[in-house]
Amino acid sequence: MVHDATGALVAVAVDGPSGSGKSSTARGVASRLGWNYVDTGAMYRALTWWLISENVDVSDADAVAARVNEPTLDISVDPATPGVFVNGHEVSAKIRDPHVTESVSAVSAVPAVRERLVAIQREIMERGAVVVEGRDIGTVVAPDAAVKVFLIATKEARAQRRAAEWAHDHGITVENTAAMLDQRDHLDSTRELSPLTQADDAVMIDSTAFTLDEVINQVIAMVRERIPSFATS
Ligand code: DC
Repeated sequence: MVHDATGALVAVAVDGPSGSGKSSTARGVASRLGWNYVDTGAMYRALTWWLISENVDVSDADAVAARVNEPTLDISVDPATPGVFVNGHEVSAKIRDPHVTESVSAVSAVPAVRERLVAIQREIMERGAVVVEGRDIGTVVAPDAAVKVFLIATKEARAQRRAAEWAHDHGITVENTAAMLDQRDHLDSTRELSPLTQADDAVMIDSTAFTLDEVINQVIAMVRERIPSFATS
């Protein structure tokens, strides 16, 4: 991992519930700063996709734990071309399938899954200055990150955004989307291990009333303040 002259970890942690704008914000910040970008949700999705393709019962935590170390997992850290790879094959489109979305919370609650993926995420963070998004980045994966953001938005705004992304492909309504987001957030926030929570030292940003650029600017301003020598944007 990269540290500045004062010892601060050159990393931005972006956590928050589904549909709050984490991916667009984290990618945008990474590309403005010329840093790496890590979408940890894509890694949980990729493992879930692989388990489903292997006919593993994802509701059986023991069955999931027994297979978790089998596939190789990697991601592209370039914010211009993010991608996730299982056993060397790109699965970036497949992991957005509704079937994967429905199953990913159960898989990500299994301790052996989190242990393996957090270890890979920390290895990937070694590659350079980085913006990392997920649910437990500021609390567990990178508690020393110089900048921590907890991104939220109203339920309506989150459902609108996700429905706009999905409707084209899957014909899903805003109401369905809201129900799916609710269910996933409930599972992700109430699980025993590393639940979605705001780190004590994270700054909460409500993206509802802001454009994407405005949110990105707020995060970049935090980077300038905390690690000025790395804020070259
Ligand atoms: O951000 P996303 O919707 O692609 O994430 C998919 C799921 O992965 C999410 O429902 C919870 C899980 N996840 C997690 O448990 N920890 C993370 N750091 C990132 C995602």
